[in-house]
Amino acid sequence: MPLFLPGTLDAVERALEPFAGLDAGTTSRTEEFWDEIRQAFRVSPKFINLENGYCSPQPNVTLGSLQDQVRKINETLSYYMRRQRADENMVVKRQLAQLAGCPVEEIVLTRNTTESMSVVIHGLDLTPGDEAIMTNQDYGSMLEEFRQQSRRRGIKCVEISIPLLPRDDEEIVAAYERAITTKTKILLLTHMINVTGQILPARKICDMAHSHGVEVIIDAAHSFAHLVYDIPDLGGDYFGASLHKWLCTPLGAGILQINRAKIQKIWPLFGETSVPEDDIRKFERIGTQPVWTVAAIPEAIRFHRMIGGQRKEERLRYLQQYWTNRVRDTPRVYLNTPAGRRACGIANFGVKGRSPQEVADLLFDRYHIFTVAIDMEAVKGVRVTPHLYTTIDDLDALVSAVREIAA
Ligand SMILES: Cc1ncc(COP(=O)(O)O)c(C=O)c1O
Repeated sequence: MPLFLPGTLDAVERALEPFAGLDAGTTSRTEEFWDEIRQAFRVSPKFINLENGYCSPQPNVTLGSLQDQVRKINETLSYYMRRQRADENMVVKRQLAQLAGCPVEEIVLTRNTTESMSVVIHGLDLTPGDEAIMTNQDYGSMLEEFRQQSRRRGIKCVEISIPLLPRDDEEIVAAYERAITTKTKILLLTHMINVTGQILPARKICDMAHSHGVEVIIDAAHSFAHLVYDIPDLGGDYFGASLHKWLCTPLGAGILQINRAKIQKIWPLFGETSVPEDDIRKFERIGTQPVWTVAAIPEAIRFHRMIGGQRKEERLRYLQQYWTNRVRDTPRVYLNTPAGRRACGIANFGVKGRSPQEVADLLFDRYHIFTVAIDMEAVKGVRVTPHLYTTIDDLDALVSAVREIAA
């Protein structure tokens, strides 16, 4: 009896064949399709996991691939590292580049978004007085990276507020634009804000920033393989994402993309002088790492492609809207996430008169629903993140729990 069922992608693929003709919108509401996808995950029956924003469980096929890779690579370890690893990495990079819609010469495999972003934030030649723009809804580690640069190099971190529920794109673009001065060098842009799920109009913000000569670094931890786009379409200069979130790879996989013309100006975090300064491989001298994680990425990409990026995006948005639409008008409940296409799978709600932690604790202790409390100055609420394996029953349980807590 295999440990993980179904054991192969072929089995999943066969199960999905009857749905081949359905468009993404229809598929997003076709529970029989998602019942098949659910079989590809092994999840604990002990509680309802609606905190898939931290990281994603791997589908069984990817987990199986990881186990195979650990065994296979371990058999010849040093030989693999010396003779095979570089070629295999290149295969993975090519596949990732294809998924990301950019040249492989712009791609670095990293361990996570934090590492990808750090390479850029610490590799920029910033000097005292230079200014960097960020918001109070950006991810804490990125804000810390910039604060460190402030201590070390004397740059100025300009932290702005952006609306939780914007009227339109222009309101957001204008908030960033107001912060730009002649000293601004770089703008940090979180494509999908992790605490609320809001999707920012990346292209418009990047175009505006470029019109002032300001570069943009995009934190795409949550948007990559969650929303459908090619990296160049976002219009940024530097891009970092984690693959263990929505691409569902094993933990410890990330991507850094740097526009070709910008590679030269970023110093690698780890010394590397043997590679030309405009060659992306200068970022690859990072020491020994768990290579099996990288080797399992292709299986995760196959799984993602088999579902289809568009179907995945539509399903995640459908699940989010399913529960938010049912609690939206509940007395004392408020939503911190915009409606419509300004959000996808992630959303955040609060209950007036109760702290986020109280609500998250009640959800877990009383209803066995796992979420996460967000208690920041800019955002107070509970983040809810369903996944492809989430059932409508799970969401109905959430909706009735929220209504009871608010009552
Ligand atoms: C917006 C954002 N950026 C960066 C990160 C960091 O990701 P990682 O821990 O994979 O580096 C996260 C993690 O949740 C995030 O939500």
